[in-house]
Amino acid sequence: MKLFAKTAVFIATLLCTIVPKLQAQSANFHIVPLPKVVRSTQTGDFTLNARTLICYPQGNKQLKQQATMLANYIKQATGLQLSTTTLAAQRNCIKLSSVLRHTNPEAYTIRVNSDMVFVDGASAAGCFYGVQTLRKALPTGVAQQVLIPATEVNDWPRFSYRGAHLDVARHFVTADSVRRFIDMLALHNINRFHWHLTDDQGWRIEIKKYPLLTKIGARRAQTVIGHNSGQYDGTPYGGYYTQKDIKDIVRYAAERHITIIPEIDMPGHMQAALAAYPELGCTGGPYQVWQQWGVTDSVLCVGNDKTLHFIDDVLNEVVALFPSEYIHIGGDECPKTMWKRCPKCQARIAAEHLQTDGRHTAEERLQSFLIRHAEQHLNQLGRQMIGWDETLEGGLAPNATVMSWRGEGGGIEAARLKHKVIMTPNTYLYFDYYQSADKAHEPEAIGGYLPLQHVYSYEPVPRSLAPDEQRYIIGAQANLWTEYIKTFKQVEYMELPRLAALSEVLWCDTGQKDYGQFVTRLQRLIDTYRLQGYNFAKVIYNVGVTLATDTTNHCIRATLSTIDNAPIHYTLDGTMPTTASPCYAEPLRISAPCQLRAAAFRPWGATHEVQRTFNFNKATACPITLLQQPHPKQVYGGATLLVDGLTASDTNYASGRWIGFCGNDLEAVIDLGSVMPISRASINTCVEKGYWLFDARRFEVSASADGHTFAPLAAEDYPALTEQSPNQINTHTLQFATTAARYVKVKVVSEHTIPAWHPGHGNPGFVFVDEIAVF
Ligand code: ACM
Ligand code: ZN
Repeated sequence: MKLFAKTAVFIATLLCTIVPKLQAQSANFHIVPLPKVVRSTQTGDFTLNARTLICYPQGNKQLKQQATMLANYIKQATGLQLSTTTLAAQRNCIKLSSVLRHTNPEAYTIRVNSDMVFVDGASAAGCFYGVQTLRKALPTGVAQQVLIPATEVNDWPRFSYRGAHLDVARHFVTADSVRRFIDMLALHNINRFHWHLTDDQGWRIEIKKYPLLTKIGARRAQTVIGHNSGQYDGTPYGGYYTQKDIKDIVRYAAERHITIIPEIDMPGHMQAALAAYPELGCTGGPYQVWQQWGVTDSVLCVGNDKTLHFIDDVLNEVVALFPSEYIHIGGDECPKTMWKRCPKCQARIAAEHLQTDGRHTAEERLQSFLIRHAEQHLNQLGRQMIGWDETLEGGLAPNATVMSWRGEGGGIEAARLKHKVIMTPNTYLYFDYYQSADKAHEPEAIGGYLPLQHVYSYEPVPRSLAPDEQRYIIGAQANLWTEYIKTFKQVEYMELPRLAALSEVLWCDTGQKDYGQFVTRLQRLIDTYRLQGYNFAKVIYNVGVTLATDTTNHCIRATLSTIDNAPIHYTLDGTMPTTASPCYAEPLRISAPCQLRAAAFRPWGATHEVQRTFNFNKATACPITLLQQPHPKQVYGGATLLVDGLTASDTNYASGRWIGFCGNDLEAVIDLGSVMPISRASINTCVEKGYWLFDARRFEVSASADGHTFAPLAAEDYPALTEQSPNQINTHTLQFATTAARYVKVKVVSEHTIPAWHPGHGNPGFVFVDEIAVF
């Protein structure tokens, strides 16, 4: 085994050091995002060398810029320094043009023959995507020449809105970092940058008419530590962009065919503005720039005419800075608490006849009043409005585009109302969620679990929409909220490589998508990440562990894999794997307690090891049947994960180690295989109150010899959680007189009515459970 292990590493080293160098001389158009058509031709290969010229049409400023960008990309990738020219060279030339006839203005073709590489776009934007494709097709590494194989590429995007969002309010990034972010977007064919510029924790855009917005509102006195721990860092924090910064950034983005959509979030998420201008709030203040995370009750007073003038004035300056057709006015997470008590807001409700009706409360309609005011003003300025899906709640503004973040429901509703929709569901596209289930090796994040494959699997057009409704889905967008993202390096980490998955979601047709092939292509994109010095997440290089419960042989089969078939070494005795440990060759059969530790070994080093601790009890790897169904979105590995020998060890409920029930209860029967004495059973629950995950209210165990007649063994009731109950894993154990049984039934009753103190009060809560143990 030892010898084999060493040989494997040697071969892997050989593969990684010699073969890629040979391949590295040749371009490959199977890039991310995968073009629609990549076809080999018989026109002869092109040799790129230091004498190759990049030609662009005389007088075409945009293509001139692209020629310079391409020269820089080629220099970075290969070391070759190419010249640009307007001369019509006939040989050894990459020729850029924008005369392609195509119905999609972002379409392009690339045609390679032995003399020329033609990159032709249906517009300057189309040519830009051709340049990006050519750039990504190039191998990286210093070369005297690069072979570009005779190829024809025909390509165009699936969606016209391909977005990425960045919150600079919670944590600020410099103007240079914003430009670096824009470069990252360009590399992934993203064409909309949604810039979240204002929030409770900081106002980041200079507004000349309201100087205190940045003088006071751009700076908070200190910041809460961690997840609203109640402890503060005592360090002032701030930053903002001047109007000059913004103009420069808008121009920089436009050169990369990226439209910046600014967001001024209203009427909630305005506490930083209220700190500067307290008269715009219902109480008149004083307010502070918020020092913690969450949703504050301090929102704009809609009863005050000054508020409406403030919005108009701010939007006037915003519109002057940003040429985008669309301006985002937020509209999310606005508590109505203050409006209910505010005489001015109530007077507005009366004056505008905004009574509660069967669909909306008066205060929801007050929010709509404000959003409609903002929309009308934007429309008068020749612009269109985007709002988060909460803008549906009091009745949608007439021309609004809806950004659906709380799942897809708001987007579906808006499309049915014939409004344009951008899908940004948090379950697929919130890049502030963890990328790995192994939180211990990840930087602190907001929570959740959004691995690369899950992003890749996203389909923006819901099947429930009729074809004439589907066309209102203009695209999708990933959002990055930065409560826990303090540096731009971490922005890069959270974005990459998930942005690559997003780019295929948005660019490729559904039929083109294949995760396995994507991951292979991604490795060449990662060469560009390395070239640019991007801090990308490495979790995709970790060893993947797939478990199958073999209920016939009462064992767990563990399949280990890596995306690039790198050698894997493992141990089962809890010791650290090294290249001297057994080399993985076939699925492992685990039938006794053990600790599996495995890591991949590549020439550039070992990955973080994966660890799995297997516990065995009488229920482990036994057949299990659920009598009630889990919530359809919280099934994960299904019933067998409850008896797979692994006990979920953290409260990341979406890690795949838990299974969730809502309205229903966990009710399962386990077949122990033969009659045997049992005297104890236990179950774990995951409490995360913010995500509506509550503890069990009751645990029952009953047993049977024949699988039909069950006799109760033990049961226990648990009190409802209080506001003070901690978020944690709870273990519930029932002890009973030793009983002979073959079939064991366990029932874990969920919280059927969320208590009054919780925002979800009255609704059913979730119970997330794992690992049923029977002794
Ligand atoms: C949001 O995530 N509050 C739009
Ligand atoms: Zn008010």
